[in-house]
Amino acid sequence: MITLIVAMDPHNGIGLDGKLPWHIKDDLKLFKEKTLNHKVVMGRKTFESIGRPLPNRKNYIVTRNNQMSIKENLTIINDFEDYLKNNEMTDEEIFVIGGAEIYQVALPYAKRLAISRVNKSYTCDTFFPLFNLNKYKEIECKEFDEFKFILLEKM
Ligand SMILES: NC(=O)c1ccc[n+]([C@@H]2O[C@H](COP(=O)([O-])OP(=O)(O)OC[C@H]3O[C@@H](n4cnc5c(N)ncnc54)[C@H](OP(=O)(O)O)[C@@H]3O)[C@@H](O)[C@H]2O)c1
Repeated sequence: MITLIVAMDPHNGIGLDGKLPWHIKDDLKLFKEKTLNHKVVMGRKTFESIGRPLPNRKNYIVTRNNQMSIKENLTIINDFEDYLKNNEMTDEEIFVIGGAEIYQVALPYAKRLAISRVNKSYTCDTFFPLFNLNKYKEIECKEFDEFKFILLEKM
């Protein structure tokens, strides 16, 4: 099962200058809780922005560069569509953690969207792709000071 996990502002903004536009401790904590001990799949640019593999998770980096060196705790995915097709129906929950290019490709394969809806608007240059809310039902919802977490599942 593929879950997209994302923090976005009211205009679906997710990034600025290759980084997160905000620093929200509770959201980072929630992200860690949700993804710990799971597989995390990210675009090459998001990986470079984080700067290291996320600890206690199996890290997958999506790139078209088949020369990218493989470090410990890092697996390279060159054929992302193929990866998604092969893992769409698995029982194991796999987290796709961004960025925008990767969300765009993975969205049709995702059973769940784990969204932190940040309350304030931020200047952003990267956006989560448009999606049809009517195709999903809300299965979890929790309010935090600076954002609201919602878990959506495809119907
Ligand atoms: N708010 C959030 O929750 C959140 C989460 C994650 C990221 N972000 C933000 O999003 C921004 C980065 O997003 P981005 O869209 O610029 O980059 P990205 O999605 O992280 O990475 C893009 C790279 O992924 C590879 N790629 C894309 N599609 C591919 C495909 N179909 N097959 C194989 N490889 C593929 C390419 O790597 P190569 O060029 O190496 O081939 C491409 O340059 C940053 O600002 C980051 O902070 C926000």
